Amino acid sequence: MGRVTAFAVLIGCLALTSATNLNQGRDNPYDLSNIVYMTNGITAIATYHLGNLQAANETVITKLFLNITYDNPQRVRIRITDMQNTRFEVPYDFTNYTIQGNAGLYNVTISANPMGIQVVRQSDNRVIFFLDPSLWFSYDDQDILFTSNYGYGINALGLGERITSFIIPQGTYTLWARDRPSPLDDGQSQDANMYSSQPFYMIIDQETGQAFGGLLYNANAMSVVIGPQSLTFRTTGGIIDMWLFIGPTPEQVVFQYHQLIGPPVEIPYWSLGWHQSRYGYVNVSMLQQVFDNYTNNQLPLDALWNDIDYMSAYEDFMFDPVTYPLNNMTQLVDALLATGKNYIPIVDAGIAQNNSDPFYINGTSSGVWIQNPYTKNAACVGQVWPGNATFIDWLNPNAKNYWVSSLNTFQQTVSFSGIWLDMNEVSNFVSGCVGHEPTLINSTTMPWTPGQDLNTNALDVAATHQNGVTEYNMHSLYGYLESKTAAQYFIQKQTRPFIISRSTFPGHGKWASKWLGDNYSQWSFMEYSIVGIFNFGMFGIPMVGADICGFLGNTNLELCSRWTQLGTMYPFSRNHNDANSIPQEPWAFGPLLIETNNVSIRNKYMLQLYIYTHMMKISSEGGQLFKPAYWEYPSDMNLLYNATSSFMLGKALIVHPCLWYGISGSTSFFPDDMWYNLYSGEYVFLDYENSAYLDMPWPGLINIHVAQGFIIPIVDNYMSAMSLRDTRYSNISLIIVQGPGVEATGSVIFDDGSTYGNMANNNYLEVEYQFFSHNSTFDYLTLQQLQSGYKRETGEWPYISTLIFYGCTAAPESVFKLSNGLVPTYIPANVYWSAEDMICKIWLKNYLQPDEMATLLIDYFI
Ligand code: NOJ
Repeated sequence: MGRVTAFAVLIGCLALTSATNLNQGRDNPYDLSNIVYMTNGITAIATYHLGNLQAANETVITKLFLNITYDNPQRVRIRITDMQNTRFEVPYDFTNYTIQGNAGLYNVTISANPMGIQVVRQSDNRVIFFLDPSLWFSYDDQDILFTSNYGYGINALGLGERITSFIIPQGTYTLWARDRPSPLDDGQSQDANMYSSQPFYMIIDQETGQAFGGLLYNANAMSVVIGPQSLTFRTTGGIIDMWLFIGPTPEQVVFQYHQLIGPPVEIPYWSLGWHQSRYGYVNVSMLQQVFDNYTNNQLPLDALWNDIDYMSAYEDFMFDPVTYPLNNMTQLVDALLATGKNYIPIVDAGIAQNNSDPFYINGTSSGVWIQNPYTKNAACVGQVWPGNATFIDWLNPNAKNYWVSSLNTFQQTVSFSGIWLDMNEVSNFVSGCVGHEPTLINSTTMPWTPGQDLNTNALDVAATHQNGVTEYNMHSLYGYLESKTAAQYFIQKQTRPFIISRSTFPGHGKWASKWLGDNYSQWSFMEYSIVGIFNFGMFGIPMVGADICGFLGNTNLELCSRWTQLGTMYPFSRNHNDANSIPQEPWAFGPLLIETNNVSIRNKYMLQLYIYTHMMKISSEGGQLFKPAYWEYPSDMNLLYNATSSFMLGKALIVHPCLWYGISGSTSFFPDDMWYNLYSGEYVFLDYENSAYLDMPWPGLINIHVAQGFIIPIVDNYMSAMSLRDTRYSNISLIIVQGPGVEATGSVIFDDGSTYGNMANNNYLEVEYQFFSHNSTFDYLTLQQLQSGYKRETGEWPYISTLIFYGCTAAPESVFKLSNGLVPTYIPANVYWSAEDMICKIWLKNYLQPDEMATLLIDYFI
């Protein structure tokens, strides 16, 4: 199939209307002139050279400015803007960087008649972007279309938010924030878009497995067609602002992207624990009962959540005086806080239009509402839980003060530790502003529409923001801007924002986190949750999880048990349920689920220092905690094609969840490495296909294996801790996965776990542990402070109690400590060796603090 025909097929998929249909098979209608080659980029003017081919209701932009910048050696930016009119551009949050130039890792070429742009990665000579001059390109006021034609087979990832397989099937996908409970998106229906708009993609070269990425920084509704060898973007407005990330490994693409958008916000230590929520805790006694049941069942808990049930007439920030009397609420929250637990209430986007609601009164007097396009000086009123409601215009200069002061007032009512931002797509139960059909802009006035009419369950897209900007442009930014503003409330108090939002946009992770919204209590949705977490990790929002046990529909004992095993490995672990579904708290199905919850939550606690350390590093460097094994082992494409059968937590741990009912074990694939069972130290013998049969017990623990060469810190008190706060007062053990002649490393970050900016301000302590196999009689373990900006408080992580060696081939005899270059001191440690299991243990008693600058010398019997 020639290029032109291939393009015609693509265009067919888009179900295009009007203008572009006229132009199937035609070359790019723009020519480049005034081309300027600079050290760090190229600029040119693109002029439309055809006659008047546009449809009646759209205007071709005839003069465009092309600006290609070599941002840095791994990143190129291609901006194409309108030279005659000001067009909407996303309010930038992350473009304040200095241009560093191209160091020869990529090569950009352009052609002038017609316009073409090609970016080639030098290392393998692969095209990573090609605006092919022989393909149609349009830049009309409501219709921008371009294709990147790679010329080789691709697997496309990313492009959220949707429920789909990790490798997105070929088809057409809509991006437009929408309150839509998890339709499966296979690229055929075009209206299966969900809560966020994340126009970031990663492409994996089907032949070589190498990767590159791209971000089309555009908030307008758009379609993306994934073809066998191409991506076609079609947006309803904005500009072309495309960043390319050259890879070549998937993980490098992720880091390169996160370097642009900024690493994610630091999250509180406690937030990595266990969260309980449900829609339907209809009064404070029910909420209290949940808290009591946790305590009575000896189950750990870190946060209790409150859905819209707490509200009086579903009005934000207002407790119902009958069902949620303030006295009882404050008592409950005080009791939670006293036991190291936290309270997290929901806040919906819509503010009830009620003249006696102080939050409505304040918003009205500060003039912050999104405006009705049909009535002067009136808010565009939508309908959500409280009935009529108004919505904040985040471009309004008073919006920040309004939102931060509302949260401050709410804090004075109840001591919340984090906030749950829901319905912020922004969602509307009716379409448009109440009292007026959306007549100004809709699918009959627009030259084309991605997915459904944009007004569907949204505010009228003609509604206006500050300076006449319309909801047409701003819609998909609501959740991001709301979260970013809410973050200021926490930051002003120097505490870390813990914000779980439903809608997001690129840059969101710098301020807030995310949950995956409404899912179904079905096995398939448990598996989709893994894709969702992979994707949002790529999008720079690593603190993410799905509703454990499922939200819509009824769960069952086996599904909920398996989901709890998996869900406790999510970065954000919350059991949440719909009001119409049967209960699914840990005690809802009797002792088996209680037991599963108990061991699974504690399992996560055990790994808290490992997980927290990763999350803190990610918040200064970018990257993902929960990621596909393919990221770590990119030469094995089977790991990409079976991406959800396992996932990695950092570099050291691989987790194999059980995703099927009725089974008690399964043949499981591993990356090519030496793996040990995290709990038992048992070595995994892989067959010629790198697979092994794993028992998958329930109740019981999810399979976690650790790769040789790593040191995993674990807290000793995980079986008795009742919240993560308790784990701060625990001794630590180190699991050292050695193998003959193998060095192992690991590190831990200790800090206060709550102050905003600890990484940036160096207010943390980082200790690196390194194990060296010296010779047949001695090994060394060194402890080194890489950063010493935090002093452990009294009782915090007092000692390293135990060294546990996997892959240990000799019996330890005695241990000596060398501190500050002094002579070795003998430590009277207890030792153990199982030759058969290749496990050694050394109990150090209270002789070694976790941050001591010291070297241990381990002497073996030979
Ligand atoms: C929709 C959210 O997705 C869900 O989690 C919540 O329970 C309901 N709104 C009610 O607030």
